[in-house]
Amino acid sequence: MKVLVVGGAGYIGSHASYELIRAGHEVVVLDNLSTGSRAAVHQDARFYWGDIRRKSDITKVLLTEAETKPIDVVMHFAAKLVVPESVEQPLAYYENNVEGLRTMLEAMVDCGVRNVVFSSTAAVYGEPEEPVCREDDPTKPINPYGETKLACEQMIKWVAAAHDLNYCILRYFNVAGADSTLEIGLNKDQLTHLIPLIMQTALGQREKFYIFGNDYPTHDGTCIRDYIHVTDLARAHVLGAQYILKSNDSLLVNLGSGKGFSVAEVVNAAQALFDFEYEYAPRRAGDPAKLIASNQRAANLLGWKPSLSLDDIIKSDYAYRRILLEQ
Ligand SMILES: NC(=O)c1ccc[n+]([C@@H]2O[C@H](COP(=O)([O-])OP(=O)(O)OC[C@H]3O[C@@H](n4cnc5c(N)ncnc54)[C@H](O)[C@@H]3O)[C@@H](O)[C@H]2O)c1
Repeated sequence: MKVLVVGGAGYIGSHASYELIRAGHEVVVLDNLSTGSRAAVHQDARFYWGDIRRKSDITKVLLTEAETKPIDVVMHFAAKLVVPESVEQPLAYYENNVEGLRTMLEAMVDCGVRNVVFSSTAAVYGEPEEPVCREDDPTKPINPYGETKLACEQMIKWVAAAHDLNYCILRYFNVAGADSTLEIGLNKDQLTHLIPLIMQTALGQREKFYIFGNDYPTHDGTCIRDYIHVTDLARAHVLGAQYILKSNDSLLVNLGSGKGFSVAEVVNAAQALFDFEYEYAPRRAGDPAKLIASNQRAANLLGWKPSLSLDDIIKSDYAYRRILLEQ
């Protein structure tokens, strides 16, 4: 298949591009490089600089590519995703995430491209009543980032119904790790994710790692999360795109390991490999005690199961970060 990866110069989009190319598919990338990097685009992918909030940027790519072979599927990764920033700048999040997707869908409909894979998030569940989240559970985001992602999901469903589009909405849990080549990984200034923060402490880039809260109703008092390796996640995108093309149908699935690890367990796993200091700090607002994915639907519909462990995630992130330090 021929896939347009929108946001393909970013962390997850670049990994999806690598997996698509490994599986023998053709990849075209559109990105405005606001948080992504040109160097993360696979050398076998064709790159267009552009912004999805400008319809002409998208139609140009879709029409130019159609001269040789039309795009079969568009994968959308082009979003802003820093939760505290979304609380401070909600309008910027609605503009980029919701308006960007609206413009992109309009261009797709106009150009006759009928398949879309969309990156959503566990943030749509908010503070779930049940620790294991199923796709049909209530969605009650607790920050503007999660709200924009939920609004995008709803928009996709309505547009699909009106314009005969197939969609694959993927709700990610905690993503981490780097590609096995170590050519790409999570390389950002605003790091908010647990595992990269631990690794930066292990590499001496931060003095101390803080565990926020040890009085949660969990076995060791720290929050429990579901971690998934970015390469497993990227593989699910290839399967999701193939599914909608083949079945001419749509789906919405969680992508997580289905297993929960407490923050203290992740810290212990990392401490078995590297030495670093950590300290307990008070709880942060809005952190649910447990967030674990039910991944049964992804297994049933896509035949997808994660193959990489928490140790693999930790080791690959560390190895990638060491390379960054040496550069
Ligand atoms: N990283 C995570 O842990 C995580 C978890 C859940 C969901 N997601 C979702 O996955 C997607 C990708 O996240 P990521 O971590 O790779 O982020 P990222 O910031 O690394 O990648 C986003 C890419 O999109 C590009 N982009 C942003 N706005 C654009 C626009 N208007 N036009 C063109 N390009 C634009 C950026 O330059 C960047 O290359 C996002 O939609 C995010 O909501 C990420």
